[in-house]
Amino acid sequence: MSIALTILPDQVVLSVEPGSTILRAAHDGGVDITATCGGRGRCTSCRVKFVSGTIPPPTIMDEIQLGDGLVREGYRLSCQCRVNEPVAVQVAPALDERTFQILGTERPPGAPLPVALDAGIRKDVVQVALPKEEHDQTSDLDELVAAARVGTEDVPVDLLKTLPSALRDHQGEVTVTRFGRRLIAAEPGDTSLLKFGLAIDIGTTSVVSSLMELESGEQLASVSSLNPQAVFGGDLMSRIAFAQFDAGNLRKLQMRIIGLLNQHIEQLVSDSGVLAKWIYKVVIVGNTCMHHLLLGIDPSYVGLAPYAPVMRHPLVIPARELFLKINPEARVCLLPLVAGFVGADAVAVALATRIGDTAELRVAVDIGTNGEVLLGSRDHLWACSAPAGPALEGAQVRNGMRAALGAIDRVTVERADLRLHTIGDAPA
Ligand code: FES
Repeated sequence: MSIALTILPDQVVLSVEPGSTILRAAHDGGVDITATCGGRGRCTSCRVKFVSGTIPPPTIMDEIQLGDGLVREGYRLSCQCRVNEPVAVQVAPALDERTFQILGTERPPGAPLPVALDAGIRKDVVQVALPKEEHDQTSDLDELVAAARVGTEDVPVDLLKTLPSALRDHQGEVTVTRFGRRLIAAEPGDTSLLKFGLAIDIGTTSVVSSLMELESGEQLASVSSLNPQAVFGGDLMSRIAFAQFDAGNLRKLQMRIIGLLNQHIEQLVSDSGVLAKWIYKVVIVGNTCMHHLLLGIDPSYVGLAPYAPVMRHPLVIPARELFLKINPEARVCLLPLVAGFVGADAVAVALATRIGDTAELRVAVDIGTNGEVLLGSRDHLWACSAPAGPALEGAQVRNGMRAALGAIDRVTVERADLRLHTIGDAPA
């Protein structure tokens, strides 16, 4: 017999199995309750307040994490609290994303690119002969491959769907887009100047996407958000545990991040006026776990010694395989992983800083929820990784929080005076 669980403020009524935790029941019912520690009773993000029904006695974790005051007010950790009779609980207000400060990539206008851009995307205008003669047996595709000098095997089937109108709209004048030998688009008329790409960094906590013009490297728009997978666990280990818990959870994590990337794409396209079909290339970086979750790969063994990733090689796949709402044949490139949690994001740091190019020994530090340190020169490069998460997430530390409203973001010492600045000028 199932029991009614009401979750406020949205008044969602769920029918739950007796004995399931409120957190589990909420996630299964599609209600987001943030679970920074992954439901281990080690943070306070999943706290709920009982508004009706019998308040269960506090667990030891309730007492440790919430303290006497909140326990007396009727707060409990939803990951520790089981439903055994009809109850109604109020979810602690979600942290407002606007109060977070996520650093995007901002290059002053006109500043030179730190690297030479070669996206590998080429656009050429070709004149395709249209089939005219009944006695001369040919096809749209035969004529296209002859004009573009490629083989039929280089043309994806999807491209054929719009080929008839693409060839005829401008009397055979067509712009073909190539990546290597592969044709990824055939558009009517001359669109050769329109080629765009996305640079995406999927972090454990935040995700930043930028729209780039592929010839000049100019950044046209950028958008950042919190990683929506964080409600299922703030750090990598919690997220791996969540994925292991149930076969459907891995898919849930994958769909969360793909959904967010599509929201980013919509925003970038509307901010810049660029059509999504002109986005032909995407480069995605992230640590090993984020990389695997994006691809729907089981990350279980990344979380266990010897922390072996499922794959390490660079990958190029069409955008349609990841359901990204851009040109379906756009090439999505995932940089290689190094080892353990040292992933494609560390490779991106090495490439962007050219740490492996110079004779002198240099160090690059990327402090994130999962952080990496690179050390090296052109002779040798070392890398290691460690979670800085608790310090930056506010989980499992008494005096710490995320870079949100009220977090101290600047400290200056003036004579003997210590001056603090906080995000949003809110009380520290
Ligand atoms: S204490 Fe429940 S998710 Fe952290």
